[in-house]
Amino acid sequence: MDYRGITALVTGASRGIGRSYAYELARRGAHPVLLARSAQTLQELADDLRARHDVQVHTLVADLSTPDGPAGAIRELQRRHIAVDLLLNNAGIGPVGPFLDRPYPPQRQAVDLNIHGLMALSYALGADMVARGSGGIINVSSTAGFQPMPYQAGYAATKAFVLSFTEAFAHEIRDSGVRVMAAHPGATATGFFDGTTATMDPRVTDSPDRVAAKTLDDFARGRLNSYPGRPLHRAQTLAARLLPRTLVVRATGAVNRRVGHHKVKDI
Ligand SMILES: NC(=O)c1ccc[n+]([C@@H]2O[C@H](COP(=O)([O-])OP(=O)(O)OC[C@H]3O[C@@H](n4cnc5c(N)ncnc54)[C@H](OP(=O)(O)O)[C@@H]3O)[C@@H](O)[C@H]2O)c1
Repeated sequence: MDYRGITALVTGASRGIGRSYAYELARRGAHPVLLARSAQTLQELADDLRARHDVQVHTLVADLSTPDGPAGAIRELQRRHIAVDLLLNNAGIGPVGPFLDRPYPPQRQAVDLNIHGLMALSYALGADMVARGSGGIINVSSTAGFQPMPYQAGYAATKAFVLSFTEAFAHEIRDSGVRVMAAHPGATATGFFDGTTATMDPRVTDSPDRVAAKTLDDFARGRLNSYPGRPLHRAQTLAARLLPRTLVVRATGAVNRRVGHHKVKDI
């Protein structure tokens, strides 16, 4: 895909990897539509993108975890006559800690956002793209989607959904002119665990800018799956596919206990 001149909706664009997707898309000549809940941050980001690149930038304030959030965002795009060529479903949250010891609402919200938000936008905008015979969708999953992960049980399960859904959906519309890809970053240096005692080991985290650039390169190459992190992160997904599942869940549980995810608290 040539990114020049296309309109690209990036969900979760206000921070982290989504912010890097917005900069990388603008650098490649795409017109970004920035979606998140933080209106002020999106406005400042839009101003900076316009100052740096000769692109049109729209902002769209929406909470994709609410029942009507995705439909409201679609209505707003239609009201403003914005046709999306590339949907980058990036917004996601990842509660950490033992399932029963952590509050339920954020765990439910992860399902609402990571699954329903992503699927609803894929449904509405995917239908428009197929009708036009062109376009693309990138769904951000995670290396966490390849195996069950004790102490990130709900989060890993939402990402397994994204992986499975994306591969199947991509197959269904393979002859439509619309391409669909799943992206699987490993640990990436963002504020993903902010508000909790959970931390990432800086020795094995990738930069969000690099993850964003690699994802877009892989999509342009026509990949079905992108592993935009370091090779070690991809190797872990292979191990999870080759080893017995009982062994894998014991191993991921041990790793997450070693980094303290079994006693995570809010701060
Ligand atoms: N960081 C990692 O190690 C890592 C690894 C693998 C995969 N991923 C995946 O990569 C994606 C981005 O992660 P990140 O690390 O960049 O996260 P992040 O820094 O926490 O940013 C999350 C983004 O999502 C937006 N968001 C959160 N809740 C939302 C909602 N209800 N409606 C709309 N937007 C919402 C946030 O903006 P507002 O708060 O302004 O709404 C923010 O822009 C996620 O899908 C995550 O699962 C991350």
